[in-house]
Amino acid sequence: MRIPENKIEEIRSAVNIVDIISEFINLRKRGKNFLGICPFHNEKTPSFTVSEEKQIFHCFGCHSGGNVFKFLMEYEKISFIESVKSVADRLGIQIEFEDQQNPEKQSEQEILYDVNDFAAKYFSDILLNENEGEIGRKYFHRRKIKTQTIRAFGLGFASFKRDAFVEFAKNRIDLEKALQLGLIGKGNEGHLFDKFSGRIIFPIDSPNGRVVGFGGRILEKSEYTAKYLNSPESIIYTKGKVLYGLSHAKDEIRRLTKVIMVEGYMDLISLFQNGIKNVVAVSGTALTEDQVSLLSRYTKNVVLLFDADIAGVKASMRSIEILLRKDFEIKIASLPKGEDPDSYVNQFGREKFDDLIKLSVSFHEYQTALYEAEGYFTDSSRSAEAIRNLVKSLSFMEDELKRNFYIKNISKRFGLREKLLESELDKILMKENRQDKSPKEKTQSYKVFPNKEIKITPEVQFLERDIILLFLSGNIDLIKFIFNHISPKDLIIELNRKTAELVFEEINNKNSFEVASVIDKIDDEELKEYLHKLSIDKYSISSSWEKLYPGKDNYSVLSKVCMDTMKKFRTVQIDNQINDILVQVKDATSEDQGVELLHILNQYHADKKRLNEEFI
Ligand code: UTP
Ligand code: MN
Repeated sequence: MRIPENKIEEIRSAVNIVDIISEFINLRKRGKNFLGICPFHNEKTPSFTVSEEKQIFHCFGCHSGGNVFKFLMEYEKISFIESVKSVADRLGIQIEFEDQQNPEKQSEQEILYDVNDFAAKYFSDILLNENEGEIGRKYFHRRKIKTQTIRAFGLGFASFKRDAFVEFAKNRIDLEKALQLGLIGKGNEGHLFDKFSGRIIFPIDSPNGRVVGFGGRILEKSEYTAKYLNSPESIIYTKGKVLYGLSHAKDEIRRLTKVIMVEGYMDLISLFQNGIKNVVAVSGTALTEDQVSLLSRYTKNVVLLFDADIAGVKASMRSIEILLRKDFEIKIASLPKGEDPDSYVNQFGREKFDDLIKLSVSFHEYQTALYEAEGYFTDSSRSAEAIRNLVKSLSFMEDELKRNFYIKNISKRFGLREKLLESELDKILMKENRQDKSPKEKTQSYKVFPNKEIKITPEVQFLERDIILLFLSGNIDLIKFIFNHISPKDLIIELNRKTAELVFEEINNKNSFEVASVIDKIDDEELKEYLHKLSIDKYSISSSWEKLYPGKDNYSVLSKVCMDTMKKFRTVQIDNQINDILVQVKDATSEDQGVELLHILNQYHADKKRLNEEFI
């Protein structure tokens, strides 16, 4: 079922998010915004903020956020369509559903999502209802997985017939898309065949619960094929950006403010079935920075629970570094030899499992114990190596106080002077070029487009931020004014640039822009959170402007800010170009080239002059 987009927009703009949220939570007015206790994580002091003006909510504690539909989806655990219906019901608005036969309007991504949904449904149907699914049902029975769990995770089974899916799908979906998603393959003679045949199917979801890919497990151990076959990357699936199970676990992670990280699909599913639901699985690949960023929206407390084998130990060590860099609190739980979380919980049950988690140790203790077990501390040169490695791990932490705590710990334990350890740490930090700076000096790191060498001065940061805030004002004249002078790609901080692209598209298509209206359509979680935050932040425009014009958001002030921002932004841009040319002039190898460059330089100066005339 699909509700026409303009209908969704009509419903959204007819309701006040503050009224809806107030049905469930006590909100108090604070300045421009409303504040309350967040329903999505445990907190005592309120950090859940609702902007009436922007019709957005955002929690500064657990980073949840979105528009009114998103709130209802998360609060009442309902789908998007249901949340739209629920608001429409409150308002007495009738919804007529669009028929599905309208494929032109679907974006490429949506088409691919639909194909995956189609396949997921097909595999699940075989497992649950078909004769040929019997073998799959037996398999799960043997592994103690209940039907209810199979349904919850949409698990499936693919027929052994090499073209069962191709045959079933050929008149129902575009097989090109299935090819693109790696559901089917093409042989040398051009014949199509199923990629997952004879495998147990694990659909892999995006954090929003849409199927982005599949993992397929063989039934029996085999020397000839890998145990798992995973979907290739596609425009809807990037391996390093997905954590298996997150869409199922995210509420519980927020509630318990802690996540357990396991390796495998089956580990996660078995834990879930046993009532342990704050779990994600990295599923085979090394943990990536993107996965950690994704997770940090829900919690920064992680318990690593990897298999008790060499690969598991290595995975823990690698993960520690990445997690420390993102300021996570890391605990490590250890399983008895040869066990994985799935086998352990099925054998020993929930209580024993909880005990195991309680026994988890800090990453530092874990590393120390590991070196100890490997006999590092029995001779002096290896002992030095181990201690150096321990100190090195500390260097990944940003927080000096935390580092200090561990330095003291090492000092006590090994009877080494703190000073010595500190100087060792400094050496490593120096090598990494990030000696302690005072917080003021610390420049925030931004993802930059297109090349990493562009310097992002605080001035550029502020100018870009003001441009984004002007976009968020939703004032169409100002937005058009901005796009008369710059294009989205002129913004160099990646998130700002993505925002500008989005606004640009909206303006072109709809001649309007409102965050609360576009936010559902954004897939990029980081971008979404950025927009919620900026929408809700207490400042509206640069503080200098607020000082000058305490009246702030009215149109005349905004247009002054807009003019000024554009002028400054263009000036910085031209100055950068001028500097570029000056460097090239110095390196010029021929007179012709020099003359040419000077010519360009003159043009830039003329541009600057024009700029000064245009904006007084
Ligand atoms: P494991 O080999 O530990 O498998 O791989 P498992 O999850 O315990 O599965 P069972 O219990 O034998 O059924 C851990 C994870 O690594 C990925 C999968 O995501 C798997 O869940 N993996 C493993 C692959 O992607 N490909 C492989 O060939 C093997
Ligand atoms: Mn296993």
